[in-house]
Amino acid sequence: MQVFTTAAELRAHVEAARGAGRRLALVPTMGALHEGHLQLVRAAAQDCDEVIVSVFVNPTQFNNPDDLRLYPRQPEQDAAALAPAGCTALFLPTVAEVYPQPTVLRFDFGPLEQVMEGAHRPGHFNGVATVVSKLFHLARPHRAYFGQKDFQQVAVVRQLIADLSFDLELVVYPTVRETDGLAMSSRNARLTPAARAAAPLIYQVLAQAATQVRQGVAPAEVQAAALAALAHEPQFTPEYVEVADAQTLQPVAGYEPGRAVVLCVAAHLAGVRLIDNIVV
Ligand code: PAF
Repeated sequence: MQVFTTAAELRAHVEAARGAGRRLALVPTMGALHEGHLQLVRAAAQDCDEVIVSVFVNPTQFNNPDDLRLYPRQPEQDAAALAPAGCTALFLPTVAEVYPQPTVLRFDFGPLEQVMEGAHRPGHFNGVATVVSKLFHLARPHRAYFGQKDFQQVAVVRQLIADLSFDLELVVYPTVRETDGLAMSSRNARLTPAARAAAPLIYQVLAQAATQVRQGVAPAEVQAAALAALAHEPQFTPEYVEVADAQTLQPVAGYEPGRAVVLCVAAHLAGVRLIDNIVV
């Protein structure tokens, strides 16, 4: 596995690989890698000749300075986990390398980002779209791998690829969970033992809500029950629960045959913000 810290090095590697007719995969990450990331890397290694993994805690997608400061960083551990998973090139740039000057361009994804993460984290998807665009330009992948845990991010990236005609295939893998149902997340590392013990409630609440949706319980009732169940656990401060159209991400008032809904949750647990979702 080669390690690149500059855009020029990565570009040269990509040019050579493309010139040799090799197929390139990109797995963009912010590091503190867990099994969910590694499954993406393994899948990418099955599909492509070169697997580029970026590890970059992107400051422009954080609207909370404490969240950025406390985001777990463990580049040496990440590098050690990546090679056996099939990563061939690790891109580990500094902030100055990715942002040699402040970006002026602003992304606006319309209704897609006016809900859930976009509504609660102003500027978040502008930062995601900025860095993902830069990574797509630098790594020029044939395929890019994302996890479904960030459901709205996947929708935004799909729109980005379509609107800017990026010549690549978006590959999305299901959320990887701990045995107790907690969605794997780099932020889980920040949970205290007591918070970690309480954390599976998010998935339990989502699973219960999914059952209610299948039974035809009205979305508003499903939402209220899920919020109440989360609020009942003193360590949790729920931020939102949404029953949304899985395509448009807009809240639904009822169910339509053949249209999937996605149940999305964001909650604070002892100072750590966690998100999760289930598609029904
Ligand atoms: O999902 C993430 O870890 C980040 O949002 C991404 C896609 C790497 C962009 O910084």
